Amino acid sequence: MILIISCSHHPDSRSRVLAHAAKEALLAAGEKVDFFDLREVDLPLCDGHSTYEHPSVIEAQERVKKAKGILLAVPIYNYAVNAVTKNFIEHSGKSFQGKPVGLLAAAGGKGSYMALLPFAGSLMIDFHCYVLPQFVYATSDQMNETAVTDAELQERIDKLAADISWLAEAVERK
Ligand SMILES: Cc1cc2nc3c(=O)[nH]c(=O)nc-3n(C[C@H](O)[C@H](O)[C@H](O)COP(=O)(O)O)c2cc1C
Repeated sequence: MILIISCSHHPDSRSRVLAHAAKEALLAAGEKVDFFDLREVDLPLCDGHSTYEHPSVIEAQERVKKAKGILLAVPIYNYAVNAVTKNFIEHSGKSFQGKPVGLLAAAGGKGSYMALLPFAGSLMIDFHCYVLPQFVYATSDQMNETAVTDAELQERIDKLAADISWLAEAVERK
């Protein structure tokens, strides 16, 4: 089972469109999917102490633990992943230990394409995640409010979906 985490709180989020496109690609390939939309969860802000006992945090950790691979669909804010994504990892990072991870990002412009690197590095160094080296980075002109409209972007999403399935199988067999 691949867990897709949609990390935007925006009602018309573009990274959520990417997340849904990845879900469709995985389902079409016969993969089981758990879709976790952080807009619908009442996660507290991590205080590094008592918030780990919050029921939503425990649920988040359990869903990550059950997944053999994870796709994170994130918004780019201030040349980095948004605070919602960071807060999620602060709460559930230990559950990512050794897991394959793929990244999809929605950005306002083309210039923030390096923004995912520090985040990918933190997943590798802190939690020994196998992060797929090819990210999906998209701007809003490549989709509308409900669907991807750019054929090349769709191809990249399909490839990321195929790659996370393949890597998850490989890591599980290891
Ligand atoms: C506070 C804030 C900061 C942003 N910073 C950047 C940025 O550094 N680089 C960029 O390309 N886009 C930036 N954007 C644009 C967002 O990446 C864009 O709106 C994207 O669609 C957000 O993802 P979402 O629609 O899934 O929420 C920013 C948007 C906001 C609201």
